[in-house]
Amino acid sequence: MNKRQFIKTIAATGLAVPAFGEGFEKALAKVQIQTPEETAENEEFWAEVRRGYKIKPDYVNLENGYYCFTPQETLQNYIRHVQDINFQGSYYMRTRQFDDKAEIRKKLAALAGCSHEELIVTRNTTESLDTVIAGIDWKAGDEAVMAEQDYGAMLDMFKLQARRYGIINKIVSVPNHPASDEEVVSIYEKAITPKTRLLMVCHMINITGHILPIRKICDMAHSKGVEVMVDGAHAFAHINYKISDLGCDYYGSSLHKWLSVPLGTGILYVKKDKIAKLWQMFGDMGYKDDDIRKLNHTGTNPVHTDLTIADAINFYEKIGRERKEARLRYLQEYWTKQVRNLPNIVLNTPADSHRACGIANVGIATMKPTDLAKTLLEQYKVWTVAIDSPTVKGCRITPNIYTTTAELDTFVLALKTLAT
Ligand SMILES: Cc1ncc(COP(=O)(O)O)c(C=O)c1O
Repeated sequence: MNKRQFIKTIAATGLAVPAFGEGFEKALAKVQIQTPEETAENEEFWAEVRRGYKIKPDYVNLENGYYCFTPQETLQNYIRHVQDINFQGSYYMRTRQFDDKAEIRKKLAALAGCSHEELIVTRNTTESLDTVIAGIDWKAGDEAVMAEQDYGAMLDMFKLQARRYGIINKIVSVPNHPASDEEVVSIYEKAITPKTRLLMVCHMINITGHILPIRKICDMAHSKGVEVMVDGAHAFAHINYKISDLGCDYYGSSLHKWLSVPLGTGILYVKKDKIAKLWQMFGDMGYKDDDIRKLNHTGTNPVHTDLTIADAINFYEKIGRERKEARLRYLQEYWTKQVRNLPNIVLNTPADSHRACGIANVGIATMKPTDLAKTLLEQYKVWTVAIDSPTVKGCRITPNIYTTTAELDTFVLALKTLAT
């Protein structure tokens, strides 16, 4: 059977597309005896992983923070689901849709470390967190705490509640280089008053990659009777944790980011005892008040994308959660260590290993971030994104597991040249 016939057969039978290939299986067998940190430096293994991706040759892609495009294996499975749903028509929607979705929720909940009764599949972090912000029965004078480094869409959603209900938003600022967890916790703590109802905090700040001490912030807020909503857009399937260990009340993430599901999937976690009091955005009287599915009335939606979540999880588990986190941290530190203390270079991401993983932000003191991004692309063929905010001026650098150290060498050389 040639390759084309094989793919046709797969599509017709609905069988899952097999993993990378023999090379990957052999490489995987070899790293079983290594620690994740050892494998992080094993270029042979990651070269095999890279073969599983179709990589655009035009530039070095260091902008995986927007979303992580899917490896070929997941993409082929996605195409298979699109074909299958198109073939089945409404028969699928009326017979299997809900059972499949229930299975996906269970699989995702196992990965997220929570009960499936506390988790729904959404389209993205924005939908997840806005569902919570809009679902609270705000009263005039209620207060919410958030940071200027939070994502704009959520900050806007809080502004909308301020206009609509007269709530007061207290905005703190998180330092790029805190001396301790306690420094960060106390910044949030000082903004809390007896009127505070909700605190929003990023698990990983999107413009710098800074990982915040979520458990400590949750414990502090709860001791004052304040609920915590965590923006985990960049953390899920990037670093390892269980949502239940974080101690938060609400958690949202996008699966098209680090889990590499095709565009348009996310999760919302709501702690079991917080579900009943949350109002849904779209009326759904089919579920009890304490059933999280009441928050998930999407209407007809692209179910083939949701089906691909299972394939993306399989891919992620095959790479290995610890291996992925260790590799991403290794890649970030590989380049940041080479430039952190050079004159004219400003690292906007903390140096402590536990305060960052794959994402970091770097600026050149004498260059505007947009000029830096433009020059990197036009002169060095390195694709990044410029961040020009009051506290962060630089380019966000986001490698992925297919990134090579040779690509990072190109970037480091460009930075050093531009800084002098
Ligand atoms: C911290 C953070 N929150 C929320 C979002 C929104 O994600 P989405 O557009 O997938 O809803 C992003 C997107 O980059 C983000 O970085």
